Amino acid sequence: MTAIEHLVTSGTFSLDGGTWDVDNNVWIVGDDSEVIVIDPAHDVNAIAEKVGAREVKAILLTHGHDDHVGVVRDFAHRVGNPPVHLNPADHVLWDMTYDSYRPDAEISDGDTWNVGGVRVKALHTPGHSPGSTCFFIETGLPVPASAGAGSAVGPVLFSGDTLFHGGPGATGRSHSSFDTIIESIRDVLFKLPAATVVLTGHGPSTSIGSEAPSLEGWIKRGE
Ligand SMILES: [Fe+2]
Repeated sequence: MTAIEHLVTSGTFSLDGGTWDVDNNVWIVGDDSEVIVIDPAHDVNAIAEKVGAREVKAILLTHGHDDHVGVVRDFAHRVGNPPVHLNPADHVLWDMTYDSYRPDAEISDGDTWNVGGVRVKALHTPGHSPGSTCFFIETGLPVPASAGAGSAVGPVLFSGDTLFHGGPGATGRSHSSFDTIIESIRDVLFKLPAATVVLTGHGPSTSIGSEAPSLEGWIKRGE
């Protein structure tokens, strides 16, 4: 059966001379034989254990911040070197972590991947970073209880750091733009079905329908 699995891993995020402790959500989509892993962060062993003997068809990265990509080279190596995908607009961030190693493939808006009988579609949603990308699955899938969305079954959006429970991702540091993230959320994410379950890069899940009414408030607040 096709399902979504969830791990929380811990480590740090560094940018602009600061370092912060962070917990990241790692998402695995697939069935008994094949999976796609989204943002394998911090803990190669824990994620590889969860994947087990299944084939990793692809690793998808929502963006290039080091808490999301810091161990992706080691993780890819551990699970048979599946292709690592990142929007090239985030190479500027990626290159803060890696010298000469680069992702295997460039994500463009609208790219799709098939796994376990479902289709995963890339939605380019710049703002938190220039290449920030969300991944959308239109088919309703059960969401793991650990995501905190109850027994929700709906279309699913993996939102990275673009949309969280309670607002947009941070835009106060380098290579971010508040106006751009608001545009992405308004024109791309809030056009998705209201029932879409939003599985975030950090913290609890939410839904498009429960976040959409807050948009004007976020714009007024301006951060
Ligand atoms: Fe980030």
